[in-house]
Amino acid sequence: MDERIVGQNIRALRESRGLSLTLAAAKAGMSKGTLSKIETARISPPISTLLAVANALGVHLSRFFIEPGERPPWVLTRKGEAPRMSPRGPECGYAYRALALNMPDKDVEPFLLTVRPTDRPVVFQHGGQEFIYMLSGTRPSPMAAHAMDVALTLHADHELNASTFAARVAAATLTDIHSAAVAGIATLKGPLHGGANAEVMKMLIEIGKDAPGERIDSYVKGKFARKEKISGFGHRVYRTEDPRATHLRQFSKQLGQQAGNLRWFAMSERIEALVKDEKKLYPNVDFYSASMYYTMGIAIDLYTPIFAVSRISGWTAHVLEQLANNRLIRPRADYTGPAYPQTWRPVDQR
Ligand SMILES: CC(C)(COP(=O)(O)OP(=O)(O)OC[C@H]1O[C@@H](n2cnc3c(N)ncnc32)[C@H](O)[C@@H]1OP(=O)(O)O)[C@@H](O)C(=O)NCCC(=O)NCCS
Repeated sequence: MDERIVGQNIRALRESRGLSLTLAAAKAGMSKGTLSKIETARISPPISTLLAVANALGVHLSRFFIEPGERPPWVLTRKGEAPRMSPRGPECGYAYRALALNMPDKDVEPFLLTVRPTDRPVVFQHGGQEFIYMLSGTRPSPMAAHAMDVALTLHADHELNASTFAARVAAATLTDIHSAAVAGIATLKGPLHGGANAEVMKMLIEIGKDAPGERIDSYVKGKFARKEKISGFGHRVYRTEDPRATHLRQFSKQLGQQAGNLRWFAMSERIEALVKDEKKLYPNVDFYSASMYYTMGIAIDLYTPIFAVSRISGWTAHVLEQLANNRLIRPRADYTGPAYPQTWRPVDQR
């Protein structure tokens, strides 16, 4: 976030609405001094504070991040305007952000939200760069953009993983490709599959950002003792390190260094050493993607959807392959229940 641009925008928007510093601050539930510091870029406010200011000014938060003179790369469909479809992932990222922030811009119809690109003032070299920009409103560093590109590439396909298998089973019934992708998404969401990345971050937060090493160890050992799984470790196929984790570990570290906050990476490394030592289990793709995304400021509930954004290419490729030589996938089941004949009691006697 560029505090200078945010501050300038807030001041301009406040003044254009004829609001004094005192009145705007009161509406935002903060002191005049705090608002003044935000406007003059003397503090770096959290997004929740900026949201309060946006609400006070009656504007959408995203307006704070647009450089003066720059046209936003998107516009929202307003009430009465014909909605236009925008199939591009980055715009979906912006739409998510707008919805997640509860659309404080009152003249935007939240439920008919669509986003259409206008003249793009920013030339993007990477999908990752654009994705983060649309999601956060700020241009990512080259490293963050590269990390996102690599993450999206690494997640794109992975043989017959559970969600791809589900998508192929659905496709084999000759349902439509959208429904096959939905089957993939529903399967990916589970915490033993793509849902694990969000679970990893929730675990790190539960342990605590500033937790001493002993607390990390006792937390992990407690899970072992209770025979609970540690999200982000183990794999049905790999018995050594998931090769995707090798890259994501590196980005987690580098982005942490860039942000001046290596706590999440350090905690992840310590957990990795412990799990390797005690259980001989290695990190999978989800383990280091968690701290990497968190360091990039991405909301935890987007981790698995980002996985899905990437994996859609794998699912659809598999669906096309399935359809090219299709046969219904219908395994048989071996009955192992009680032998025939069984006793049966009518419902009203149970
Ligand atoms: C991915 C996963 C489902 C693979 O499961 P699997 O192939 O059935 O694993 P296995 O049955 O071969 O596991 C062997 C043993 O290791 C244990 N184990 C596996 N993953 C574990 C983990 N993450 N934490 C703790 N123990 C684990 C199992 O409990 C089992 O122990 P047991 O023999 O004492 O019962 C499993 O490792 C897991 O649940 N991981 C956590 C979720 C996750 O990160 N998923 C994303 C995968 S990319």
